[in-house]
Amino acid sequence: MTIFSQRRSIRKYDENEKINDKTLKEIIELAKLAPSSMNLQPTRLLVIKSEENKAKLKNIFYGNLSQLNTSSHIIVLFTNLKKFDDAPKIFSEAYNNKIIPKNIMDDQIKKISDTKNLISQEKIIEDGFLDAGMFAMQFMLVLKKFGYDSCPIGGFNKKIINDVFNIDKNLYPVLIISIGKKAEEGFPSYRLSFDDITKII
Ligand SMILES: Cc1cc2nc3c(=O)[nH]c(=O)nc-3n(C[C@H](O)[C@H](O)[C@H](O)COP(=O)(O)O)c2cc1C
Repeated sequence: MTIFSQRRSIRKYDENEKINDKTLKEIIELAKLAPSSMNLQPTRLLVIKSEENKAKLKNIFYGNLSQLNTSSHIIVLFTNLKKFDDAPKIFSEAYNNKIIPKNIMDDQIKKISDTKNLISQEKIIEDGFLDAGMFAMQFMLVLKKFGYDSCPIGGFNKKIINDVFNIDKNLYPVLIISIGKKAEEGFPSYRLSFDDITKII
């Protein structure tokens, strides 16, 4: 239970501890096992590692400079507004790898192709935020399991980030996560009570 009870938002990291590429890849491989609506996996990551690129975030962040200046990496999560285009690839690979039968592959691809033009951009974004939230939580818990910490950061300028990093406008920014080895403990969790948040009927 400890990774759940010990995760907390860390805003200051050990600047000498960088997460290596291989470990970060392992962490992302586990994080991407998070569920997503229709398994369309719309979450995309921009991994900002170099000091040069981190510096570009100074004009994008609203505060949060301690996370920016001390973290090992900054991860930007986007949601892919063109996620339906990935359906043939996702479901045919699952079929080719003998994970799903042919009728499920065909049904899923057809269902998505029939409905994709009926779904509004707002709904795609709304679902994308949920999917990225699932991804983010799993990512932060996996990081904890590997001995690293994180802070979700919603305080950034979503209107300019794509231009600054030359990211396709079909990727809609959702959340930033700073990651690294903690250099302070953060606040212990304080939460509303079980009764405050739960109704059993
Ligand atoms: C969607 C979201 C956005 C957040 N944005 C920020 C932020 O911009 N800056 C920050 O320092 N913390 C941010 N946080 C962290 C919350 O303040 C933190 O999760 C909350 O206070 C509970 O503390 P804990 O994470 O240590 O349990 C954000 C958390 C979430 C889930």
